[in-house]
Amino acid sequence: VALDELNTFRLPARAAQFVDIDTLAGLQAMLRSECWQGAPRRLVLGGGSNLVLTGDFAGLVVKVGLRGRRLAGEDAQAWRVEAAAGENWHDFVRWTIAQGWPGLENLSLIPGTVGAAPVQNIGAYGLEVAERIDSLTAVDLHDGTVHRLLPADCAFGYRDSLFKRQPGRWLIASVCFRLPRPWRPRLDYAELAREVQAVAGAAPTALQVSDAVIAIRRRKLPDPAEIGNAGSFFKNPVVDAASFARLAASWPALPHYPQADGSVKLAAGWLIEQCGWKGRNLGPVGCFERQALVLVNRGGATGGDVARVATAIRADVRARFGIELEPEPVFV
Ligand code: EPU
Repeated sequence: VALDELNTFRLPARAAQFVDIDTLAGLQAMLRSECWQGAPRRLVLGGGSNLVLTGDFAGLVVKVGLRGRRLAGEDAQAWRVEAAAGENWHDFVRWTIAQGWPGLENLSLIPGTVGAAPVQNIGAYGLEVAERIDSLTAVDLHDGTVHRLLPADCAFGYRDSLFKRQPGRWLIASVCFRLPRPWRPRLDYAELAREVQAVAGAAPTALQVSDAVIAIRRRKLPDPAEIGNAGSFFKNPVVDAASFARLAASWPALPHYPQADGSVKLAAGWLIEQCGWKGRNLGPVGCFERQALVLVNRGGATGGDVARVATAIRADVRARFGIELEPEPVFV
């Protein structure tokens, strides 16, 4: 099976075996089957939006097609909304807003599925999804057991989780979100606050916040439907206070975000831009002209082409700033 259309970077790759799972019972039957048990390698695929396929996959690819979404509960403090892992993330966010259950609007237009959202703890415009998770259902692929996990069980961190740290172990089947009442807009990200203020003044609706996030993303980020990419290609690096002080002495304009533990998060896009990469191509892979943190497939790129550019960018940032950039997508 060709995986080209199943990864948003549109990298060419084939899977030796492929199965699309659309029920939990089907999943459990599959886990007992020879097809799964005998597979030399296995890969669980959601929306394929955080993936760099470096070649053909000589094993079994499982596409999580579980669907369904519902209000799971409601009280004075919160709405609880549950969705199956295969639901499209952005459609789900817009649906919750339309139903009158706001709280996910800052995460509008992020590519991928509901089940993939907790894996890398998607975050944007001042909100991480971990803050909105009530619980989730995950299948332990080692023994087929089904677990209900609370956020405290998931080791969530910046673009990090238990599921990312134990690759191949967990399949997320559904996620239940806790959306606090009364709703308050989350406008810590300055550009979002300005955008919202301009269209809605001081009392925006969740729909207006969602529309503003969509407008900002369309301005800065390439649409995977038009140009292959996997969003931010590197994590924003976090350095200790002493390292930050040294860097800031040489680079006074360095964008930085102090963290609760005293460390400082830096903007990888800025570091990459300073190295002259913004808008530059190396073969068929480019560093996006409007957001240097995003690598794009200009057409016909392979995973090897992507890896070559990533290595070159990391070397330049290391040489200039002494900082090690860590890729954000998963390499397979
Ligand atoms: N910057 C530059 N040059 C660039 C890009 C950014 O100088 O080419 C500077 C900006 O001027 C700004 C700072 O870097 O001062 C931060 O830029 P921005 O607000 O665009 O966000 P980011 O840190 O580059 C992160 C997330 C995005 C998320 C945005 C908004 C990561 C790895 N990326 O990017 O998430 O949308 O913040 O919250 O944390 C993703 O993960 O795929 C993703 C798009």
